[in-house]
Amino acid sequence: MDGNGRWATARGMGRAEGHRRGAQAVRRTVRAAPSLGITTLTLFAFSSDNWKRPQQEVGTLLRLFGDYLCSERVELRRNDVRLSVIGRRDRLPEELVAEIEACETATARASGLHLRLAIDYSARGAILRAARALAAESEPTADAFRERLGFACGTDTAP
Ligand code: FPP
Repeated sequence: MDGNGRWATARGMGRAEGHRRGAQAVRRTVRAAPSLGITTLTLFAFSSDNWKRPQQEVGTLLRLFGDYLCSERVELRRNDVRLSVIGRRDRLPEELVAEIEACETATARASGLHLRLAIDYSARGAILRAARALAAESEPTADAFRERLGFACGTDTAP
């Protein structure tokens, strides 16, 4: 998801407002996706690189994610949307992790759109962590690497 800042600046608004409008665009996109034949929608909302942004902007973004998960939980469930969050959770605020888990649990049985939010996600970082975990094993296999990678990406639970 890109361009929130430029969109807002071009209209004389602050970047935070751009991100808030971005969250509204997410709502519209998630509502429209099933009727367009989309079955899995992955939104790259916050890359691991984004921690380098000014603290205030990071705070705004993390609050927006929490607000979204809290306010949309009932609607996602009603619309048969299963939400999962991929990426690292160990660096996120506890309250946000709690919101993520509550939303994932509430929508776990949905069989319509699969909405995946990538938060604190880095493909390179995940490969590196999986490779490090594998290096500690005496007989590394491709299956073991795949398993470690799933865990490092946040798409699977711990091995
Ligand atoms: C990149 O645009 C955008 C982000 C780092 C944040 C994306 C987050 C949202 C839209 C908030 C809501 C998301 C959800 C899932 C509820 P940018 O700031 O780099 O814009 P620029 O390239 O114009 O500077």
